[in-house]
Amino acid sequence: MCGIIGAIHMKGNIASLLRQSLKRLEYRGYDSSGIATASEGILFIKKDKGKIDEIHHRLNFDNLPGSIGIGHTRWATHGPPSKVNAHPHTDCQNRIAVVHNGIIENYQELREQLLLNGHQFRSQTDTEVIPHMIEEALNKTKRLDKAVAQIIPQLEGSYAIVVLEANGKELVCARKESPLVVGLGPRGVYCASDVPAFLPMTRKAIIIEDNELVHLTSKSANVSRFDESGSLIKLPSRAPSVVDWTIDMAQKGGYPHFMLKEIHEQPRALSDTLRIRKDDLEAFAGILHNHKNVITIAAGTSFHATLAAKYMFSHIANHLMHGVIASEGSDTVAKSLGADTAVLAVTQSGETIDTLHAVKHLKNQGATVLAITNTVGSSITRLADSVLYTQAGPEIGVAATKTFATQLATLALLAISLGTMTGVQTKKESQDLLGALNQYPDLIQSVIRNKERMIKETAQEYITKSSFFFLGRGISTSTAMEGALKIKEIAYVHAEGYPAGESKHGPIALVEPGFPVVFVAPNDKTRRHLEGNVMEMKARGAQIISICSNQDQELINLSDHAITLPALPSLFFSPISYAVPLQLLAYYAAILRGHNPDQPRNLAKAVTVL
Ligand code: AGP
Repeated sequence: MCGIIGAIHMKGNIASLLRQSLKRLEYRGYDSSGIATASEGILFIKKDKGKIDEIHHRLNFDNLPGSIGIGHTRWATHGPPSKVNAHPHTDCQNRIAVVHNGIIENYQELREQLLLNGHQFRSQTDTEVIPHMIEEALNKTKRLDKAVAQIIPQLEGSYAIVVLEANGKELVCARKESPLVVGLGPRGVYCASDVPAFLPMTRKAIIIEDNELVHLTSKSANVSRFDESGSLIKLPSRAPSVVDWTIDMAQKGGYPHFMLKEIHEQPRALSDTLRIRKDDLEAFAGILHNHKNVITIAAGTSFHATLAAKYMFSHIANHLMHGVIASEGSDTVAKSLGADTAVLAVTQSGETIDTLHAVKHLKNQGATVLAITNTVGSSITRLADSVLYTQAGPEIGVAATKTFATQLATLALLAISLGTMTGVQTKKESQDLLGALNQYPDLIQSVIRNKERMIKETAQEYITKSSFFFLGRGISTSTAMEGALKIKEIAYVHAEGYPAGESKHGPIALVEPGFPVVFVAPNDKTRRHLEGNVMEMKARGAQIISICSNQDQELINLSDHAITLPALPSLFFSPISYAVPLQLLAYYAAILRGHNPDQPRNLAKAVTVL
């Protein structure tokens, strides 16, 4: 995915603002970037391969003239990261500049036709067809919004685009299946992939829906709906909503990296999320209760949260949920489910394309769609019949941390609500569970406060290791898988997260003296069995790192390194606290290996391509 921004001010140069906005969108992609501005009838463009700061250092974005412009930060799909493939892209005359997030699936056919019409292409991107198509349309209509509306029906795939014309009076943006928000500020008007892009300028935002186009001037944002024929239907003016995120929430606040800041924010994020209204939870739980099948759809870390949820729902509500990984969603389900199914989608961004596709597939078969997301106005919220919001605040680091904790908390609340509704838990039992859950923010706080330094030292001890196993049993399998994902994605260390019981069926073949195995071992009822797995690994010379209770002297003695946690208020929610040492371990493993954990190679915060 990529980040896009457009901005118009009444006066003053806009380039520096665009650059800073792009920095706040860099989590969406960071292999190349560019800015185009317009002044006195001329387009000015600077773009290159690399991160925004590096390019700025070389080219100085800030001296681009004009009070109107667009910007882009890229995560390459069509064409490798390079100066020519960086956005903005322009038409033959250099009069139209376009930034785009998404994929134009039929770009080859469009490009061939445009080549026949005499257009000249400079890049290998799918995006470049758009400015050339607008160039042709502008020969027929002089209005930029009409020209964009005319070409859009020919584009197949997903897009959020912003278009700038050299006349420098207006911007046009439009979306289909890629996020787009408009910001209305005292000095001007903005559009972007995500709210943090314009948070310092305004908190007033209008969420743009699929098949909508916005005509922006420095004082207005007029939203229209476009249709297949290329016509525009003006929509009544829409009151902006006021976003309750602060700029501090989207900045590093003194931490060296967003990831570390977000790990430290978990107690706050968790407390806020635990305040979800009881009525909202009961409405959700009621829908789950009234459907024969409940399946969860999620990707990556969110999938691990749903794995943990499966255990919570079984134990707390006697309710079996089927967990389906998003990228396999429609193929797994095929036509097997219908109106007696509730699908629970879990996605922090609300934009993961695999999750959206699987959910659409189920919705088309009559399923009721529930969503848990961190992002107001995201695509999943428009697909869902009902939404619960986690209260993590913006998560900028590519590695999900605080959103994992808040997803787990939301799912735990939901399991308790369902268990209470169906009588599996008595009122007293559910109050005890809620009481236990409410102790987790302090618990996490103490883990971070007391263990961070020791975890950093542990990461240093294993600096030469290139492969790890992360093993757990029961609900801790999800924690182990999450720990392996974290260290893989930001420290580039091979790691496998596995159910400990399964490790005998293959993985153990890799174990030789010195091989590091991390055991996630809360003192729950799986603990006894887990000891057998520890012994099997030790017998083959593995180095044992345990994440365990500070009262588990037996395991502490068996381990080469033990990262201990205080006793848990309830063992059903252990991943909330046991994931924290693993997040810190991955963070320091990345730092000590010289990698930037906020921007791991080849990854993007939300994956919006199939
Ligand atoms: C986690 O650290 C990853 N960055 C990634 O696996 C992520 O969880 C996945 O892409 C799902 O994203 P979503 O929650 O926004 O749908």
